[in-house]
Amino acid sequence: MRSFAARLLDWYDRFSREARDLPWRDKQDSWGIWVSEIMLQQTRAEVVREAFPRFMSLYPDPSSWAEVDDDELLRAWSGLGYYRRARLLRKAAKQVQKKHGGELPRDPQALGELAGIGQYTRGAIASIAFGLPEPAIDGNVERVFARFFSISAEIKKSSTQRRLKELVLEKMDPGRPGDFNQALMDLGARVCKPRDPDCAACPLNADCRAREEGSQDKLPLMPARRKSIPVSAAAVLVPRGRGGVLAARVPSGEINEGQLELPGPGILTGHEPGSALEDALAARYGCKMRVGGLLTRIKHSITHHRITLSLYEAALDSSPGGAMEAVDPMDPELPWSTPSRKALRQL
Ligand code: ADE
Repeated sequence: MRSFAARLLDWYDRFSREARDLPWRDKQDSWGIWVSEIMLQQTRAEVVREAFPRFMSLYPDPSSWAEVDDDELLRAWSGLGYYRRARLLRKAAKQVQKKHGGELPRDPQALGELAGIGQYTRGAIASIAFGLPEPAIDGNVERVFARFFSISAEIKKSSTQRRLKELVLEKMDPGRPGDFNQALMDLGARVCKPRDPDCAACPLNADCRAREEGSQDKLPLMPARRKSIPVSAAAVLVPRGRGGVLAARVPSGEINEGQLELPGPGILTGHEPGSALEDALAARYGCKMRVGGLLTRIKHSITHHRITLSLYEAALDSSPGGAMEAVDPMDPELPWSTPSRKALRQL
């Protein structure tokens, strides 16, 4: 039988590399690969496929991203969510300018010292951009290896992670480490899926231990899920001028900091229907509002919080103070937080 790597790469070359059509794959540009890996950390490939080319045409190198201010950063990253990644990428772009003459360093250790680059991203950049034999183990790769070797220990434990790393290095084709890692990610995403894996289509099926044992649906063993906490939040829609509404900046230290939101007591601040919403608004913004009826409700999850946001109509009884501004809610450029954007879209 041909080697693990030969079968995997053959499958990648024939069925996946082009079929997946990911716009960063035809580049050997380390900045593009870095950006794509950061975007792909928490955003689906379909969304990244749309956002990536525009981002790269606006910010073709680390120094152009190092210089953006907060507003531009929020605009450029809108639609991708998890804005902390964008800030860390900006911080790392500055580090690259200062310490590495504007070029991403090739050394995996130096890569790992940049803001926002953890084990996985470091391995992905080192192997894809620089051709170094470094593992890049994401959830897809964990699943493929847990099944192929029938690893039943909890997958996130550090001893399991060490073992995975050794196994990936043992199986890797040192001539094509970037393709090898990406082929594993694709195999996990398209064939060795979490549910209903398509074992018949898998190039590794002949010696996959989970398949032999029939345990593929039980592996990998995931850590117990953190229980999700329901939160009911509130916000108000305050018409202002012709077609405008009041919006506020999310204060620093809060989730979604720096973005725009519809005025409210704060997205993770519990709110019971009919409670003292007017008092909470007065405390937060220093102005008096009369809250009316319910306009809409949306659901949104942030980490382990399941938020139900109720949007009420409201009118201002005093001047809005400095914390709020009137904006055009139809302006597509505004950096709304996702819950506020969802609520506005519902209307
Ligand atoms: N997920 C994260 N990075 C990826 C890549 N380079 N190819 C496919 N899926 C990915």
